[in-house]
Amino acid sequence: MRFSVPHPIPYQGSKRRLAVAILSHVHAQHYNRLIEPFAGSAAVTLAAAEKGLFSSYVIGDVLEPLIRLWQNIIDDPITIAEKYELLWLRERANPIEVYYEIRTEFNTDRDPSKLLYLLARCVKNAVRFNPSGDFNQSPDKRRKGTRPATMKAELLAAHRLLKNKCRAVSTDFLPLIHEARQGDFFYLDPPYQGTSEGRDIRYVAGVSRHRMIEALAILNENRVPFVLSYDGYCGSRKYGEPLPETVAHRILLDVGRSSQATLNGNHEVTVESLYVSHSIAGSQKYARRSLEDFAAQVGLFGIAT
Ligand SMILES: C[S@@+](CC[C@H](N)C(=O)[O-])C[C@H]1O[C@@H](n2cnc3c(N)ncnc32)[C@H](O)[C@@H]1O
Repeated sequence: MRFSVPHPIPYQGSKRRLAVAILSHVHAQHYNRLIEPFAGSAAVTLAAAEKGLFSSYVIGDVLEPLIRLWQNIIDDPITIAEKYELLWLRERANPIEVYYEIRTEFNTDRDPSKLLYLLARCVKNAVRFNPSGDFNQSPDKRRKGTRPATMKAELLAAHRLLKNKCRAVSTDFLPLIHEARQGDFFYLDPPYQGTSEGRDIRYVAGVSRHRMIEALAILNENRVPFVLSYDGYCGSRKYGEPLPETVAHRILLDVGRSSQATLNGNHEVTVESLYVSHSIAGSQKYARRSLEDFAAQVGLFGIAT
């Protein structure tokens, strides 16, 4: 399934495919500002901007070089495209060795163009940090990463959608929750609980279930609507504990089989929870839906399969 929405930053966990389901909760009323405090590749912000659903956007993430990358995309995409091209060409002679060289440089200078290169070239486009905060993901030996011409087109297209409309902030999510006001709409996509707590800590920071519930209580108290992606399961594997119905209405979203799962001959279906604030869940409360149901109902995006 493809949408004609730019997506310059390859990012594991991107909500590109789910944007239609997430944004289907927006069109009934009019909001001014979309706030995405766990932006990553900002797939939902880009999809909303493509459809002109809001007049302004805030993208936040605790990963500082990622936010500097977004700031560069908003202000000066040509420079970032040129730097990306230089890095991409540099690895020609000896791809794996040069990947590790650039990774070491990034861990010293935190240059956002190097983060873009690493994300485009690493295994599963997945950010991984070690306990000392250094990027430690390995190179993908089978793929070369986005070609510079394609990357430039994606960067420019994202720039056109966001310039003069989008503020990028490097912050923990909570200050953005406190900033909420009438006319705002939140889309929240924290790391899965399995990747935030315990031994499997992949991102630079995480979010406990307790802090999440606290944040949603603030939004509910101020009647600021939100959609949250949270727990889910794939076959018999469960990701995270569901949230109480008092906090928000839970919809189970059938997202189908990932291309990776299909390649591995795995026929298990992935189901993700989408929590919708009670203020927008309305009288038609769904228990379980498929992406196609949403698309047919909403007609927001042209969907190509
Ligand atoms: C599941 S990813 C979001 C993916 C995003 N929805 C997309 O479409 O690409 C979660 C993001 O939250 C960020 N993050 C982790 N802990 C955070 C915190 N406490 N405050 C803000 N961002 C955080 C991570 O750096 C990561 O980019």
